[in-house]
Amino acid sequence: MSAPQMVDQPLEGHFETVVAAEQRIEPRDWMPDAYRATLVRQIAQHAHSEIIGMQPEGNWLTRAPSLRRKAILLAKAQDEAGHGLYLYAAAETLGVDRAELTDKLISGRQKYSSIFNYPTLTFADVGVIGWLVDGAAICNQVPLCRCSYGPYARAMVRICKEESFHQRQGYELLMTLMRGTDTQRRMVQDAVDRWWWPSLMMFGPPDDDSPNTAQSMAWRIKRHTNDELRQRFVDMTVPQAQHLGVTLPDPALSWNEERGSWDFGEPDWSELKQVIKGQGPCNTQRVERRRAAHEDGAWVREAAVAYAAKRRAEAGAGGAGDHRDEDEGAGR
Ligand SMILES: [Fe+2]
Ligand SMILES: [Fe+2]
Repeated sequence: MSAPQMVDQPLEGHFETVVAAEQRIEPRDWMPDAYRATLVRQIAQHAHSEIIGMQPEGNWLTRAPSLRRKAILLAKAQDEAGHGLYLYAAAETLGVDRAELTDKLISGRQKYSSIFNYPTLTFADVGVIGWLVDGAAICNQVPLCRCSYGPYARAMVRICKEESFHQRQGYELLMTLMRGTDTQRRMVQDAVDRWWWPSLMMFGPPDDDSPNTAQSMAWRIKRHTNDELRQRFVDMTVPQAQHLGVTLPDPALSWNEERGSWDFGEPDWSELKQVIKGQGPCNTQRVERRRAAHEDGAWVREAAVAYAAKRRAEAGAGGAGDHRDEDEGAGR
């Protein structure tokens, strides 16, 4: 990559000043190699999560219980595809190629959020994913709108707006089920029991086991620690669970008057480690499906490249006319 080997003092000074002043680093600015590498890893992992995250809910698209539910779920899954695209585009501003990132995903060299390695067993899971998984994503992502890297921060603004819709559609679906039959209420409770702990794990390992947090916070990529965000999520979610009439599966959950926050139990961190290592219930299936979709889509990519080349050739033969903007549009 283009960053100089020898640290250039004035450039480094500019970087430090911009970050300290809460302004944005832009793609052409000098940045430390490790800052660039951290962002590439984080944004790629985030993009992969959006794309892989379509699978668990996509599982229910053909079996949605009504046209209305199907339209909502379809819109949500399409939003997630869009989030993946914004984020791959943000990663590309750092000098990596989207094709290379996809290759790393389907060959298992880059990760995505472990939450998507759990199965969706009933339609109540669609509601619980919207409520808890998108809810946890919002807690994680709202602070990223103030991240020091401009293209990432700007992508997050729009993503967060759409995530709020995802959370609300999930909650509304659960409210509807809770007003239904005993069987429907049991379905919701069962889904909450299965998704609660994995949702808490979405914030990552505890702070004392998260060695990169301090550096990411100094660079203002990350604005809060994993444990702070987890606490915020629990405090936000408990009243919603009460309103819904479900029980969160944690006997240690209790209001702490002194802290003005909810105390809660410790997630099973060995489970998180296993899932990250590839031994979750659906890891193989998720990556295989992504690989198959990528291979099935090869003809689309080839056609787009051929079309763009044809347009370029036409523009070249046409001489003075500048069709460049149109050409760039055609390639996407
Ligand atoms: Fe998303
Ligand atoms: Fe979402």
